[in-house]
Amino acid sequence: MNILLNRYYLKSKKVYIETYGCQMNFSDSEIVASVLKDEGYVFSGDIKDADVILVNTCSIRDNAEKRVRNRIQEFKALKKKKNSLIIGILGCMAERLKMQLLEEEKFVDLIAGPDSYRDLPLLLQDVESGQKGVNVLLSHEETYSDLSPVRIDSNGITAFISIMRGCQNFCSYCVVPFTRGKERSRDAHSIIGEAEKLFNEGFREITLLGQNVNSYLWEGMNFAGLMKKIAEINPLLRIRFATSHPKDMSDELLDIIASYPNICNYIHLPAQSGSSRILKLMNRKYDRQWYLSRIDAIKSKIPDCGISTDIISGFCSETEEDHKETLSLMAYAAYDFAFMFKYSERPDTTAAKKFKDDVPEDIKLKRLNEVIELQKELSLNSNRKDIGKVFEVLVEGLSKRSKDYVSGRNSQNKMVIFPQIGFKPGDYVKVKITDCTSASLKGKAI
Ligand code: 5AD
Ligand code: SF4
Repeated sequence: MNILLNRYYLKSKKVYIETYGCQMNFSDSEIVASVLKDEGYVFSGDIKDADVILVNTCSIRDNAEKRVRNRIQEFKALKKKKNSLIIGILGCMAERLKMQLLEEEKFVDLIAGPDSYRDLPLLLQDVESGQKGVNVLLSHEETYSDLSPVRIDSNGITAFISIMRGCQNFCSYCVVPFTRGKERSRDAHSIIGEAEKLFNEGFREITLLGQNVNSYLWEGMNFAGLMKKIAEINPLLRIRFATSHPKDMSDELLDIIASYPNICNYIHLPAQSGSSRILKLMNRKYDRQWYLSRIDAIKSKIPDCGISTDIISGFCSETEEDHKETLSLMAYAAYDFAFMFKYSERPDTTAAKKFKDDVPEDIKLKRLNEVIELQKELSLNSNRKDIGKVFEVLVEGLSKRSKDYVSGRNSQNKMVIFPQIGFKPGDYVKVKITDCTSASLKGKAI
């Protein structure tokens, strides 16, 4: 009786979720929404209306954490006006800081790490009864495979499917193995089922997500095998994936990408650095030569493949020479796109424990700017080469700048903008490229 009453009471509760960080976090927020929806919670896009504010957080760099700390001060002000407001911190910051976060931010009511989202209804009940709700246990098994993610903020065309969780590569700079725990692959049947369901609901592009998708392994099925199965659902369903670790980028996978037209010709292959010495210190388990050989393999097997990367500037002991090697590796790979960061020391990582964060801030910034400038050139060159070509573009919606244009991506993951003449989200349109910037292509439907 008590429980029923409690559920009824909860029915009127409105939840607002704000998400920071990687695609995996956005995917996790959809799991959170699923767990809470099943308990009768409703979702509100309006923070002022909310009874529960949940923030799904990122710890990857110090500035990601600072941003969240600043943002939650604004929630504190809301709580002053509305005493009953519940504020919960989810994700990597919750996992990394644990009880320390409750001590430092007294107005926070709930802390839940990435493997404890099934427990959220109980944690919220703990808060309702006047306690703090805390669960930061990491699991070796949890993949949330039986839950149907609720697609909050969805465009109805593109969706993420999480295929594995955690990471045990222990790159020396990275906090993820500590905040997301051991690597585990999700049941292939549930992944394929989710992809089929999305296609039947009208979705046309799915991105398979994991910290290192190339090491997916479930009951003998590897990532190439999984991709094949998903590609065979329907030729109209496009497939992307992120993120690949260069050490595990196999020829078998490249062959599968090359042989299925609906597997997008786009690979995100984070290099991090172009110097073998730095890569060794980073514990990346490959060297410059190996990375370049993988780039060669991609270019020979999938000649029109889009390639992007992640670069960290100013890692411990990085010299000008090492930095130049990064620039030359970028030029060789001729990346279409890159995510570029200044090294940020993270507590408990090998780099924090064993190496000195000894590249001065101004040098880090100078090198990062050089990396950014080079990438701008590479992106512009790559886009210029597309002028005159025809691509199949999946329409996602109206262009943000003007209602007279629609936007979507080509297989290579480049954003393409072209005049709206009655196209609908989900349409595949052949577009001839006529112009570009370093960030996008412009064209005309043919
Ligand atoms: N400092 C800077 N960048 C980092 N990344 C991961 N950890 C750090 C760190 N401590 C970057 C890597 C990774 C991406 C997700 O974030 O480039 O691929
Ligand atoms: Fe971090 Fe390396 Fe794992 Fe990526 S592969 S999440 S960089 S430890």
